[in-house]
Amino acid sequence: MQLLGPFLILVAWEVPGIRAETTCVTQRCLANNLVSSYVITMPQSQSCNLPVNLSMIDYQTTYVDTKLMQFSSLLTVTMIWRDPNLAWNKSEYDFDVIVLPASQIWTPQLTVKNAVTATSEPAYPDVMVSSDGDVEYAVLMAITVSCNINLFTYPFVTDSCPVAINGWNDTRGCGLSLEYGTVQWIGGNNGDWETKSVTLQGTDNHDNRNYLNVTVSIRPFSPFVTLVMPSILIMLADLASAALPFEGGERNTYKVTLVLSFIMFLNALTQGLPDDGPCSPVIRYHYCLCLVVLVVSLLVSLVLSRLDADGSILPCKSLRCSEGTRNEKKKPG
Ligand SMILES: *[C@@H]1O[C@H](CO)[C@@H](O)[C@H](O)[C@H]1NC(C)=O
Ligand SMILES: *[C@@H]1O[C@H](CO)[C@@H](O)[C@H](O)[C@H]1NC(C)=O
Ligand SMILES: *[C@@H]1O[C@H](CO)[C@@H](O)[C@H](O)[C@H]1NC(C)=O
Ligand SMILES: *[C@@H]1O[C@H](CO)[C@@H](O)[C@H](O)[C@H]1NC(C)=O
Repeated sequence: MQLLGPFLILVAWEVPGIRAETTCVTQRCLANNLVSSYVITMPQSQSCNLPVNLSMIDYQTTYVDTKLMQFSSLLTVTMIWRDPNLAWNKSEYDFDVIVLPASQIWTPQLTVKNAVTATSEPAYPDVMVSSDGDVEYAVLMAITVSCNINLFTYPFVTDSCPVAINGWNDTRGCGLSLEYGTVQWIGGNNGDWETKSVTLQGTDNHDNRNYLNVTVSIRPFSPFVTLVMPSILIMLADLASAALPFEGGERNTYKVTLVLSFIMFLNALTQGLPDDGPCSPVIRYHYCLCLVVLVVSLLVSLVLSRLDADGSILPCKSLRCSEGTRNEKKKPG
């Protein structure tokens, strides 16, 4: 055993974790020392609560699904927290910042309370640590939020949806307490939808801002051209059919074509809009009314053409006709 003593000391000298106490002259050496001290647990204090400053949130709406009433967005969240175990004495090591791999140290996990799906990954593989232990880290979050947009006035709609960014929190107050910095947003082209504004809002009065209020609006041009304009034009075309003659059922054929093409637009409407909700778009009722008017106009036209041909509404009521059929029916009996 006595012989092994010097040998054990030699082994200890070679293991990096134990050699961490040696003074470094380069930033990389200091970074290696900090990584090898395994700071993989959350910084803990008596209050059991770690303040995390979300100093910058970059928001971008990527996709809005009008049918499912869901919208997806991409957030880059830059956060800063203080980890005392990653601090160093500046009079010993004269460096302001060092860079550490994010996977080797503890980093906060953010969630979105009202998300249908949420994924989060490091925006960059490294974090920046300053001498007092302040760690700066950025995550990229892809989230899908379900939101009841009021579509009553479709296609002229502007409404806002909450995106509630949260950290892990316990009922006893353990966890992350989030502070919010500034929010930036990129307008972007998301099909028919446009992001109007993104602001920080709080659920209570004492300036506890804890969700993003995202205001989106529809660019009305495309839905107007594909849904509203055709319905108005078809109604006009139906009015214009008064100019066609009854003879040969020309007017009726024309009206049937109009009804059929209108039903095609009805299909486009149900594909683009959500199924029934509390605030059903008023354009649905407009379409219902248009269809009823078209069909009534077709029926009236049919009756009128009948009158025009026989001078009677009911089939076989005129004398010539009824006598003719009666004779034919009696023959076999
Ligand atoms: C959060 O970080 C930003 C940017 O560094 C800073 O301006 C702000 O004062 C910080 N907020 C808190 C509550 O520490
Ligand atoms: C930093 O190192 C200097 C010199 O070794 C020492 O005098 C000072 O007390 C240290 N400061 C802290 C906060 O440990
Ligand atoms: C977590 O709980 C503490 C104590 O109740 C509170 O101060 C803090 O704001 C909460 N943090 C979040 C993100 O809800
Ligand atoms: C969200 O922002 C919009 C526009 O700034 C505002 O009209 C709306 O009231 C806000 N929503 C909430 C819940 O604060």
